[in-house]
Amino acid sequence: MRIAWGITGAGHLLKESVEVMETLRGKYEIRVFLSKAGEEVARMYRVLDRIESFPVIRESKQGSSFSSCGAFNLGKYDAFIISPATSNTIAKIRLGIADSLIPCCASQALKSRVPLILLPTDSKPIVDTKAPNGQIFRIYVRRVDLEHIEALRNEGVIILEHPAEIKKALEGVKSGMRRVIKID
Ligand SMILES: Cc1cc2nc3c(=O)[nH]c(=O)nc-3n(C[C@H](O)[C@H](O)[C@H](O)COP(=O)(O)O)c2cc1C
Repeated sequence: MRIAWGITGAGHLLKESVEVMETLRGKYEIRVFLSKAGEEVARMYRVLDRIESFPVIRESKQGSSFSSCGAFNLGKYDAFIISPATSNTIAKIRLGIADSLIPCCASQALKSRVPLILLPTDSKPIVDTKAPNGQIFRIYVRRVDLEHIEALRNEGVIILEHPAEIKKALEGVKSGMRRVIKID
């Protein structure tokens, strides 16, 4: 199975996402889509080198039309995971804004019926998280961010709370693909 994995500019659950991505290396063919902010934040949390050990498409090296997103229309990926997904990226996907790399890929994935799996950082009313220096702090998630997640769930997007759920979600996508092949 060919997986596209979006990494946005989120510190929350970033290290955990990279760890899961590493455990799936070899089992799936993974290509990373890295937002500009994702590149900066991954450097701050000291995981950029681990991300760069995968094939990476960087927003920082792209133009404005994101031709790399066309691969989702052409059936080159079997699933698109965005983990972690910032509230910025979630809002853009929900509202159909495609003016940056990862929301553009998500938009094309949805329009081409490629399963979309999201791990939003702001997924519950209160989130405790860690700054790059290790300091723990609390954020109170806005209602609008929770509404975006709920709307995407209602649209058939797979929403996760922790990277540990990614393996099972991919197995679900895989068995769904087998069922479709059998019906055809
Ligand atoms: C150290 C650091 C950590 C951040 N962590 C988060 C986060 O966990 N969740 C979030 O929604 N935004 C977070 N941000 C803010 C985003 O990086 C910012 O909104 C950015 O524009 C998102 O762009 P993107 O969605 O294209 O990656 C963080 C910013 C910094 C500097």
